[in-house]
Order: sequence, then C-alpha cells, then structure tokens
Amino acid sequence: MSVMKAYERLVLPLDLSDREEALALVEELAGVVGVFKVGFQLFTACGPEIVSDIRKKGGEVFLDVKYHDIPNTVKNAGLECLRLGVKIFNIHAAGGKRMMADCAQAVKEEAARTGERAPIILAVTLLTSIGEQDMQDIGLDQLPADYVKKMALLAKESGIDGVVCSPLEAADLRGTCGEDFVLLTPGVRPAGAARGDQQRVATPAEAVSWGADYLVVGRPIMQAEDRREAAENIVKEIEEAVG
Ligand code: C5P
Repeated sequence: MSVMKAYERLVLPLDLSDREEALALVEELAGVVGVFKVGFQLFTACGPEIVSDIRKKGGEVFLDVKYHDIPNTVKNAGLECLRLGVKIFNIHAAGGKRMMADCAQAVKEEAARTGERAPIILAVTLLTSIGEQDMQDIGLDQLPADYVKKMALLAKESGIDGVVCSPLEAADLRGTCGEDFVLLTPGVRPAGAARGDQQRVATPAEAVSWGADYLVVGRPIMQAEDRREAAENIVKEIEEAVG
C-alpha cells in the first residue's frame, strides 16, 4: 500500500441519483480524487452503465453495494464486478466463510485467466448503525468491537483483501490482520469541518497514521465552495502524514 500516491487513497462518495451530475463531478475531480464510490442510490437510479461511464472519464470505482446472498450468487456478482472494471467492491462478512471464499477465489482465478485487474474485495464487518442493543435483538451476544475483529479475521482467512472500518478501529485491525490487509475508512473529517451525522471521526492525517489505506470523504468536499481545492487539501494532508 505504501507505493500508492496520496490522491489514490481519497474516495469520494457519489451519493446522488442523477447521471449527469455524477459524471460532471467525476470530470471535475478525476486526478484529485482517486476513487469514486457508487452506492445503492446511484447504482439503482442509473444501472451498471454508470460504472463504465465513470471509467470512460478516467475515474476508478468503488462499487459499494455490499453483496450478501448464497455463495453462488455472490460469486457471480463478483465476476460481473471484474468485467465492469471496478477497482473495489464489497460483500457482507456475515454471509459467511464459504460465501467470501468462493467469491474471492473465483474473482482472482478469472482475473488471472483473462489478464484483467482483480478488484480489491472488502468485507463489511458490522454496519456502524448497529449498536449493542441491535446486536442482542438479532441474537449476537457480543460487544461490537469483538465482533468486528472476529469478522475481519474471518474475512482475511477467506481470502478477502480487507475491510471497511471506522478510523478509530484501524490501528487495532492493522495489528490484528497484518500489513497487507486493506483498510478503508469513512468517518473522516479535516480539522474544522462539520461532522454532520458522523459521531466518531478522525482527520485524514490521523486515519492514515492509524493505518487506513483508503479514506472516504463526502460532505467536506461536496459542500465546499471550491470542491477541487477541498480535495487537494485533503490529499496534501494525506501526503504529509504518509511522509
Ligand atoms: O459525507 P460523509 O463523508 O459522511 O460520507 C461518508 C460516506 O461513507 C457515505 O457514502 C456513507 O454512506 C458511507 N459510510 C459511512 N459510514 C459507514 C459506512 C459507509 O459514512 N460505516
């Protein structure tokens, strides 16, 4: 991960429904933002062509649709991610070891066979909206932090490349899962930026120094008067922290 350029670590969520608006943002920010995150909203509104459209404009894509189904279905969805040329996609660790392992193995084997770039597959360990009470309600009698660690290790054992986590969990997971495990963290706010609805935040420099590889930063860029400048400042902060 250390060979990555600073801007390649910055992920901008395209949390909108309109194709033209999304592509205008890609045009404006490609080269400053490394990866554009396509979530349920944009994907459902525009379909998979939005991924190819972003790629055509020179943007990389994190397809954030958190697959969770039987192993065969998730494996086939993973193969479509490979064909679409996404750089990163994610699946739910709660789908189990076989679901994760079958998907990781099939995607890597197919990439090796065709010579295409294998996407980075990340696992969602536990949604940050789930608290202790929610866990008990669904029969998970554990502390969220313990569960996150357990699921991250299960993902690693299953051949998954990394996890989505809070910057505050990054140092712990880096220690538990090793140097090559990819950590992607939302909840990042440059010093002085509004937190919005994010409760547990870190600055870009903190997130990187605690071990995050990719930082998802939305509103501090989207709501800035000069979005390019806001993104550039975050990249500078990442650069300084990486050293
Ligand atoms: O605007 P902001 O920087 O808070 O955007 C963060 C992005 O990361 C949003 O797309 C949000 O859905 C996503 N996300 C998050 N927290 C998680 C997982 C995803 O904020 N635990």
